[in-house]
Amino acid sequence: MRFRSAATCLAVLTAVSTAPAATTAAGLGDGLYSAEQAARGAEAYRATCSSCHALDLRGNSNSPGLRGIGFLFVWEGRSLGELYTSIRTTMPQESPNSLTQGQYLDILAYILEQNGYPAGGADLANASGELDTVVISAP
Ligand code: HEC
Repeated sequence: MRFRSAATCLAVLTAVSTAPAATTAAGLGDGLYSAEQAARGAEAYRATCSSCHALDLRGNSNSPGLRGIGFLFVWEGRSLGELYTSIRTTMPQESPNSLTQGQYLDILAYILEQNGYPAGGADLANASGELDTVVISAP
C-alpha cells in the first residue's frame, strides 16, 4: 500500500516534470508590466482613447468597453500580441498607428491594470514578439 502510493506519487511527479514548457511560459498573472508604466499609460489613454472608450474604460453606445466580462468575451484565449497589434493598427480610430510603440505598450499596461492583472517589476515589452506567447485569460 505504502509502496503503491509512493509509486503513484513518483508517476505524477514525472508527468509534471516532463510536461511541455507550459509552466515556464509567462502568464498575465506573473506581473508583466510595471505600475509606473501603467501610470504613463493612464495619461496617454486619457488623452487619446477616453473620448470614445470612456475614462472608466466602460465604453459608450458607439465604442466597446475595454474591461471586464465584455472585454474578456472578445479577447480570452487570444494572445496579448494580437491585442497589441490590433490596438496599434486600428486605434485611435481617427488616426491609427499615430502613437509610439512605447505609448501603445504603456496603454496596454494600463488596460491590464484596469482589468485586475497584477503589476510586476519590469515594463511590458515586445522587442522580440514576446507578447505573442502570452495568452489572455481571466484574472
Ligand atoms: C474616435 C473614437 C475612438 C477612439 C479615439 C479610440 N477608439 Fe478604440 N474603438 C472605437 C470603436 C468604434 C471600436 C469598435 C470598432 C472597431 O473595432 O474598429 C473600437 C475598438 C477598440 C478595441 C477592440 C475592442 C474589442 O472588444 O474588440 C480596442 C482594444 C480599442 N478600441 C482600444 C483603443 C485604444 C487603446 C485607444 C487609444 C489609443 C482607442 N481605442 C481610441 C473607437 C475609438
